[in-house]
Amino acid sequence: MERLKGKRCVVTGGAQGIGAAIARRLAAEGATVAVLDLDAERAGAVLPAPHVGIACDVRDSAAIDAAFAQVRDRLGGVDVLVNNAGRGSAPGDGMAEYYAAQGKQAAGEAVFADQTIHCTDEGWVGVMAITLDGTFKCSRAAVRIMADQGTGGSIVNIASTSGVKGDGPVPYAAAKAAVLGMTRAMARELAARGIRVNAVNPGATETPIYATLPSETKDAIAADSLMKRLAHPDEIAGAVAFLAGDDGSFATGSIVTVNGGAYFT
Ligand SMILES: NC(=O)c1ccc[n+]([C@@H]2O[C@H](COP(=O)([O-])OP(=O)(O)OC[C@H]3O[C@@H](n4cnc5c(N)ncnc54)[C@H](O)[C@@H]3O)[C@@H](O)[C@H]2O)c1
Repeated sequence: MERLKGKRCVVTGGAQGIGAAIARRLAAEGATVAVLDLDAERAGAVLPAPHVGIACDVRDSAAIDAAFAQVRDRLGGVDVLVNNAGRGSAPGDGMAEYYAAQGKQAAGEAVFADQTIHCTDEGWVGVMAITLDGTFKCSRAAVRIMADQGTGGSIVNIASTSGVKGDGPVPYAAAKAAVLGMTRAMARELAARGIRVNAVNPGATETPIYATLPSETKDAIAADSLMKRLAHPDEIAGAVAFLAGDDGSFATGSIVTVNGGAYFT
């Protein structure tokens, strides 16, 4: 069923993982999709024309404004924004020291597993600039266009269960919790313009980052959910498609948790 027919959608960080699954799902539902990512070639490889791939670093306001101007030119406007670009960890955020200490603990050494005391300003900003600031800046660019169009719109923020449970790196959990607050504040503000703002909270999802983890770590994460596995990116994309389109027309300020029952909300 083409539930997003005629919708012009932007997906940030859409070149791989959850973002690529979202872009493909929105396209399959009839939308025209602009995939934004650091590299135009990777972004353009996700979907064939009339969909477009555009280079955009979500840390950079000028790059975002230029990318959204291109989206407007090439798709004719913006009806849906999916803020998916995010980064779990950045050099200098103290995670290297944290993992090293965990290794020592596993070997029987009595050491503390610290992140905070090792986290540099650069490490903190490295996560925040993409995961929180990027979400705000892209929302601002999309809302400016949606307000101009006067036809409402839908923003879906990809947050994380880490923002609720605090089980990720400190800057990441902080950024994702802030994304939830921003979702609710923007939902209140923008309802009058017919713009809905919602979030999806994925649990651990099988994306390239998990290929780098030791299998015991992956097994332990999978054991946490009632399904005893990680999510497939398409299972996150389905929740996004619901919120993005008219099926979700009465949902705003909602946080949809897709975590295999790891915890209940
Ligand atoms: N994979 C999981 O288990 C999981 C769980 C909960 C939430 N999430 C969230 O889902 C989203 C996608 O996660 P993923 O695992 O698919 O990530 P991923 O690392 O596989 O893909 C992220 C994409 O974002 C792009 N990107 C990175 N920095 C960017 C920037 N500055 N500007 C534009 N694009 C940039 C990358 O090039 C990449 O294509 C993130 O927000 C992540 O925090 C993931």
